[in-house]
Amino acid sequence: MGWNERVIKEFRENNGRVGGAFEGVPLVLLTTAGHRTGKPHTTPVVQLRDGGRHLVFASNGGGPEHPDWYHNLLASPQVTMEIGTDEGHVKPFATRAVVLAGEERDRLYERQCDINPAFREYREKTTRVIPVVALHPLDLSADSERNRMIGRQLIVHHNELRAELAEVRAAVQAALTGGSATRPTADLSRQLHRRCLTFCYGLQLHHTREDGSFTAFEQHFPHLRPAITRLREEHRTVEHALARLERLLDAALAAETDDLPALTAELDRVIDGLEDHFTYEEHHLLPALDPRP
Ligand SMILES: [Fe+2]
Ligand SMILES: [Fe+2]
Repeated sequence: MGWNERVIKEFRENNGRVGGAFEGVPLVLLTTAGHRTGKPHTTPVVQLRDGGRHLVFASNGGGPEHPDWYHNLLASPQVTMEIGTDEGHVKPFATRAVVLAGEERDRLYERQCDINPAFREYREKTTRVIPVVALHPLDLSADSERNRMIGRQLIVHHNELRAELAEVRAAVQAALTGGSATRPTADLSRQLHRRCLTFCYGLQLHHTREDGSFTAFEQHFPHLRPAITRLREEHRTVEHALARLERLLDAALAAETDDLPALTAELDRVIDGLEDHFTYEEHHLLPALDPRP
């Protein structure tokens, strides 16, 4: 386990508290979408509360380059933030990232230096202007038109994922029936692997972001709590199924197995499970987001 993973694990197990060099330092975990791969990318960062928003600083310890998470949020500002709560455990929140500028950025960076002098050292070590980013948590009580838009986006994302999954399934089927033997060519395996990874990352990201927005749903629509609990559990189930799928694909790519039928069976299980999940999710969340008769 690397340094990042250890901090993330300790953070999640201790309601956001991490010892050692981070003792007493307020941290959050950010999950962004990798700007090249779309793969979810989680990293611990120091935060400063500023009213309802959370400020984070792309200091990279005073290094010469912006950190990856900053490039990621410039490309896709939907960021999932995990934070310790009064309930005694870490919760995910869906947020929108806004990069601050001018006097506001300078003033808030200065405030952070007064609280944590290490940030003064980071500034001295680099010629970069260290970006300050405000994370705004999703508030479902704020704007009913935006809620309707969230509902429409949910359907669009589900349909995209359904279509991608059907393509993956068709590609596996073609490999099964079109190959000269039971084993696909190395080239075909690689194509399948790439296609499948793209789908897996897309789905993982979709679920990570949903887990964050579910916290806002639980706050604003208490009647949905039992449904949300089930949906969160299904996300964990899907996560395990994707891990199994990836292992089967890796084995196929390494030509360690001829067992494409096992891959097809696993894919069929994922497809069925996901269809049920998407349907249940749409059935419960959409009426709350668009209560018009
Ligand atoms: Fe979901
Ligand atoms: Fe979903």
